[in-house]
Amino acid sequence: MAEPFERTQGELYVEELPLTGIAAEYGTPCYVYSRSAIETAVKTLDASLSPYPHQICYAVKANSNLAVLNLMARLGAGFDVVSGGELARVIAAGGNPAQVVFSGVAKTDDELHQALAAGVSCINIESISEIVRLEKIAAELGLIAPVALRVNPDVDAKTHPYISTGLKENKFGVEIAAAEAIYSQLDSSPHLSPIGIDCHIGSQLTDLAPLSDAVTRVLGLVDQLHSLGIHLHHIDIGGGLGIRYKDEEAPSLKEYAELLLALFKGRTEQLVVEPGRSLVGNAGVLLTRVIGLKPGAEKNFALVDAAMNDLLRPALYGAWHNIENLEEPSSVPPRKWDIVGPICETGDFIGQQRLLALQEGDLLAIMSCGAYGFTMASNYNSRPRAAEVMVDGGRHHLVRQRETIEQLFDRESLFPDVE
Ligand code: LLP
Repeated sequence: MAEPFERTQGELYVEELPLTGIAAEYGTPCYVYSRSAIETAVKTLDASLSPYPHQICYAVKANSNLAVLNLMARLGAGFDVVSGGELARVIAAGGNPAQVVFSGVAKTDDELHQALAAGVSCINIESISEIVRLEKIAAELGLIAPVALRVNPDVDAKTHPYISTGLKENKFGVEIAAAEAIYSQLDSSPHLSPIGIDCHIGSQLTDLAPLSDAVTRVLGLVDQLHSLGIHLHHIDIGGGLGIRYKDEEAPSLKEYAELLLALFKGRTEQLVVEPGRSLVGNAGVLLTRVIGLKPGAEKNFALVDAAMNDLLRPALYGAWHNIENLEEPSSVPPRKWDIVGPICETGDFIGQQRLLALQEGDLLAIMSCGAYGFTMASNYNSRPRAAEVMVDGGRHHLVRQRETIEQLFDRESLFPDVE
């Protein structure tokens, strides 16, 4: 496939449509997703893993729009959910609960109940507390809960500390050294069935060596359990494959799959992967308009109508997203601009020191926003959340309406005064 976002005669297109047309139709800020980019990514990963029995469980947190989830379901993907809300979204989008793994370090009793009642394929448990609570709930429902233990392999994923999850000091999973005893406990429970094992070491991995180390450790444990008579059906290695935002040399989906095939060579357990960002990250952009320009002695600020409430990644992680003019810049000379939103926080920036030729009213695309963009949006500063649009070839469809001002406070009420 051609790249989903490409220039034709100076204009930035999504598939067959100029993004200026999308901005004119739906306004800004607006997320735009390429359906075929998502489809290509899923099919590439699926085909690359095809020599080995596997299941892709798309990590819903990356982009949980119903249209995206529905597309994933049509492509045969399962889902990795981390809340009752995500599970409900998957079901509303036509996903099959029997292809859902339920992850999360602090599931509530209600969520465990909801997951069992819906018939998810596996609950990835992360603590003894959760085991005790799940056993009780499964007993009440008269069910046997299919479970996998999330182990913490203690490897350094070499990614941003906020999205690194596989170190001993992180809150996730149980120490790998404790796993054997816990599996014996699970195995002897009348209401729990240990069918798998799970790990996830972090996100935006651009080096596969830590993943390889983690999987190797997990496979060693699976073999050890096997020798004790505990036979697991699947091995879930989480998600985490990185993408290119700037100049990162992220491994391709194919290279990622090749590593997994090599690690699983000669084995029989089903391989489960939970990719999020690598399937949708580069399939989306955020469109924004330059409200005003504020050049100064120290810095030049381009004030845009998207803000940290729309795209939190730069403010939260110092993440870098490419920023491009939708149309060929006019004759104004390029300058270094800080692209900032209207929110009352110095951390409210989308990009800093970007060389761009800008005029007021210009439209910009913030690239690589398909993952952890809209899903991390908030209403801070009482800003309605952006619209979301999906494009397929020459067709476009509004997959989420822009929030209205009224919706921001329609569940609030005044405290009743006692006269
Ligand atoms: N499975 C589990 C258990 C996870 O915790 C995550 C992500 C994934 C799968 C999917 O990881 P991916 O393939 O997308 O890397 N908000 C951050 C990313 C947080 C990721 C949290 N867990 C960001 O904007 O970079």
